[in-house]
Amino acid sequence: MRKGLYGLAALAVAFGVGLPSSGQAQHEPPYQVKDGKVDKATYNGYRRFGNACERCHGQGGAGSSFAPSLTKALKTMSYDDFVETVINGRQNLANGQNKVMPAFGTNEDVVTYMDDIYGYLKARSDGALHGGRPERFDR
Ligand code: HEC
Repeated sequence: MRKGLYGLAALAVAFGVGLPSSGQAQHEPPYQVKDGKVDKATYNGYRRFGNACERCHGQGGAGSSFAPSLTKALKTMSYDDFVETVINGRQNLANGQNKVMPAFGTNEDVVTYMDDIYGYLKARSDGALHGGRPERFDR
């Protein structure tokens, strides 16, 4: 009985039940999309992605024969893993392949706007945006 009650309390905490709404901030998505239009940061992420990543990861991060889909990857990949991969790159030599994800750790256009790029890709991954050029709502 006692254990059950603790379990319930833990659940309530986990889901923010009965707590002030401050706990919900963590669950807000890292992008803003209103009527298919995006905020400045998400738009910037779209542009930076287009410059640095799209040639391998395809339009809107949908993937290509060179590199995997990031819309799929971000459904399970954590923010920390994403940042780590982009900073350090990765090389996959499995099955005789030689697929290289370049390291962007010294690329200021990527490092400075990492969160914008992540936000844009997360919006794509969540299905909140199509792959083309989005419009902005905040101007
Ligand atoms: C030269 C081609 C190329 C470019 C440019 C490139 N990538 Fe990659 N990326 C790859 C390849 C190839 C892989 C898969 C590596 C592997 O199999 O381990 C990859 C993997 C990743 C992964 C891990 C995906 C997963 O499923 O684990 C992330 C995240 C990623 N790239 C993000 C980016 C971002 C963000 C940019 C732009 C800043 C970028 N990539 C630019 C080729 C590229």
